[in-house]
Amino acid sequence: MQTITNWLELEKTHDSGIYTKHEVVIVRGKGARVWDSQGTEYIDCVGGYGVANLGHSNPYVVEAVKKQAETLMIMPQTLPNDKRAEFYAALQGILPPTLNRYFPCNSGTEANEAALKFAMMATSKRKFVAAMRGFSGRTLGAVALSYEAKYREPFGPYGHQVVFIPYNNLEALREAVDDTTAAVFLEPVQGEGGVRPATGEFIQAARQITQERGCLLILDEIQTGMGRTGKIWGFEHFGVVPDLMTAAKALGGGVPIGVCAMTAEVAGKMPKGGHGTTFGGNPLAMAAGVAAIRYLEDTKLWERSAELGGWFAQELRKIESPKVREVRGMGLMVGMELKEKSAPYITKLEHDHHILTLAAGPTVIRFLPPLVIEKSDLERVVGAVREVLA
Ligand SMILES: Cc1ncc(COP(=O)(O)O)c(C=O)c1O
Repeated sequence: MQTITNWLELEKTHDSGIYTKHEVVIVRGKGARVWDSQGTEYIDCVGGYGVANLGHSNPYVVEAVKKQAETLMIMPQTLPNDKRAEFYAALQGILPPTLNRYFPCNSGTEANEAALKFAMMATSKRKFVAAMRGFSGRTLGAVALSYEAKYREPFGPYGHQVVFIPYNNLEALREAVDDTTAAVFLEPVQGEGGVRPATGEFIQAARQITQERGCLLILDEIQTGMGRTGKIWGFEHFGVVPDLMTAAKALGGGVPIGVCAMTAEVAGKMPKGGHGTTFGGNPLAMAAGVAAIRYLEDTKLWERSAELGGWFAQELRKIESPKVREVRGMGLMVGMELKEKSAPYITKLEHDHHILTLAAGPTVIRFLPPLVIEKSDLERVVGAVREVLA
């Protein structure tokens, strides 16, 4: 077979065209570093869009995946499997006791899709209250809750009703939730919408209002989970427990995974066959998930995230530039909002400093580095941001 080296050209030729491609081909990663096909090293603050919390090619996860690949890769959920059971036990170990029923799947949007369907079935209602600037995924159920018009509008109308309220606005939340509401659906920190942390009062009010009105609280921990915000889950900052919680991204240590966790009461309302998946809960992803959870617990990476993230945000705030509006974040989920478009600065960081970052909306530079990143790497990032803004 012919050796292929024109990777960039091939990607550009055959890709669906929905992504604006960078002019590099990334071929390898380790910890918080990645390398391109020319051997150039980058500090990776994209972190696979918040997947690589435990570091690229985390050796503990790699070992578990290798072993499981040789043992058994696929087994549908009708046939119980040792790794799936271990995954459930590991997940229960890092979740509140009431969240003890799990629907494993393969991605964030699938986890949210499941949450919507379980909530509809549990309440016999189909109205959801979601937040402006929220992001829930791209499939047809979840995208209806993704606020950005370009994601949502071309594909409607949708079969479920979604009412958007301003994030952190208690009054609007109180007004929006009524007898027809199935669930309030929120991110503990809005990621895609610009790295905007919720206030404790808002999430606590969401818990109280949903309980009073007999509807459900769904928290999307897809980007905020697995230590990203300085706790294992974002909701731990607020002292509330939702009825359903979705996770994905870092939960598989780099392997595609998703889960919708819920109470037994919610799960009990879905009839047999009411939802399903072929790949979800496959032993390979489950082994990766077990390894990822164990690694997180052993290393307490969320503590590192809190400490390094707090320090990093503080250092970014010290940058004196008229271009900066605000630095926000929780743990190592950090956003720097500019008073102008962030894209040119993201490109400059990559080209001039070999630092990969991503946008969150048009004006925010978002940093989602692996939680194992060294402080010295973050120091370099701060220095580079200072230079590109100068
Ligand atoms: C909060 C949140 N929900 C849902 C999703 C969708 O996850 P996925 O891209 O795995 O479908 C994302 C992805 O960025 C997300 O950040």
